[in-house]
Amino acid sequence: MNRTVVVTGATSGLGAEVTRALAAAGHRVIMACRDPVRARTVAESIGGDLEVRALDLADLASVRSFAAGLDGEVDVLVNNAGVMGVPRATTADGFEQHIGVNHLAAFALTGLLLDRVRDRVVTVTSGLHRLGRISTDLNWERRRYRRWLAYGQSKLANLLFAYELQRRLTADGRRVISVAAHPGVAATEGQRRDTSLSGRILAGGRAQPPEAGALPLLYAATAPGVTGGTLIGPDGRLQRNGRPAVVSSSRRSHDAALAARLWHRSAELTGVHYLDQCTACTGATRIAP
Ligand SMILES: NC(=O)c1ccc[n+]([C@@H]2O[C@H](COP(=O)([O-])OP(=O)(O)OC[C@H]3O[C@@H](n4cnc5c(N)ncnc54)[C@H](OP(=O)(O)O)[C@@H]3O)[C@@H](O)[C@H]2O)c1
Repeated sequence: MNRTVVVTGATSGLGAEVTRALAAAGHRVIMACRDPVRARTVAESIGGDLEVRALDLADLASVRSFAAGLDGEVDVLVNNAGVMGVPRATTADGFEQHIGVNHLAAFALTGLLLDRVRDRVVTVTSGLHRLGRISTDLNWERRRYRRWLAYGQSKLANLLFAYELQRRLTADGRRVISVAAHPGVAATEGQRRDTSLSGRILAGGRAQPPEAGALPLLYAATAPGVTGGTLIGPDGRLQRNGRPAVVSSSRRSHDAALAARLWHRSAELTGVHYLDQCTACTGATRIAP
């Protein structure tokens, strides 16, 4: 059955590969990209049923206008776009870039589209979520900025969000599911951009081609029997490469109290409130509004 899929960050790397594979399988893809001119060039090179729409995740006004401009329903939302190990900078709303683009904007976009998503939300995380800690100083204002730790924080936030979203969807009796996915290590622009020693060590020497890295994302987005609240990644050594499978994540990523606090803080920072009537999933840890 042909589906409509929103893919954020479809101009390069994994997002472009996911778009290419979905289009080749006959699905309709809405490419949500911050540079629509470049995205159109990419779309022309891919071909198929593709629509380009402007979305800058470093600006919540753009997230809101993207959501407002989208007609009808979509089957799948793939929160793929992200920045990796970049120097400190802030988004239009004053958030540190990693947490702002990678997590807060994805949180807001999901909330604004959720009632129009028929099947599932896929959120892309990374094996480097294991480096992450969720600090009360989410925006790195009161501590020395460390870009890979900032990336790790944002990727742990992606995973906590994906699992918490599933708990809240279940508690609310919804059929739509939330799945997390990670590509292992894939040779994309984002991955290559950091040529520093720490970047090369963290990324690992042997990156697989983007087509292979895209497979867990595609599996999470399209496979029929996927269970909500799981993480799909490559099944090889250290989850760096291999075939898509349900894989493990850090103990911290399963901390439901931490996830509930992050959810509350994300809603507060973005002004996008959803699925927040759910007492079953937040329990005693819920922070009063
Ligand atoms: N490659 C890996 O080994 C690896 C490993 C683990 C996880 N991941 C995750 O995979 C996802 C895709 O990364 P990638 O490796 O494919 O990197 P990439 O080639 O750099 O692609 C990132 C995409 O995100 C887009 N993007 C960045 N900032 C944006 C913004 N403010 N608004 C809208 N779009 C924005 C980029 O757009 P532009 O083209 O305009 O810059 C690009 O399309 C990320 O979430 C990353 O954390 C990658």
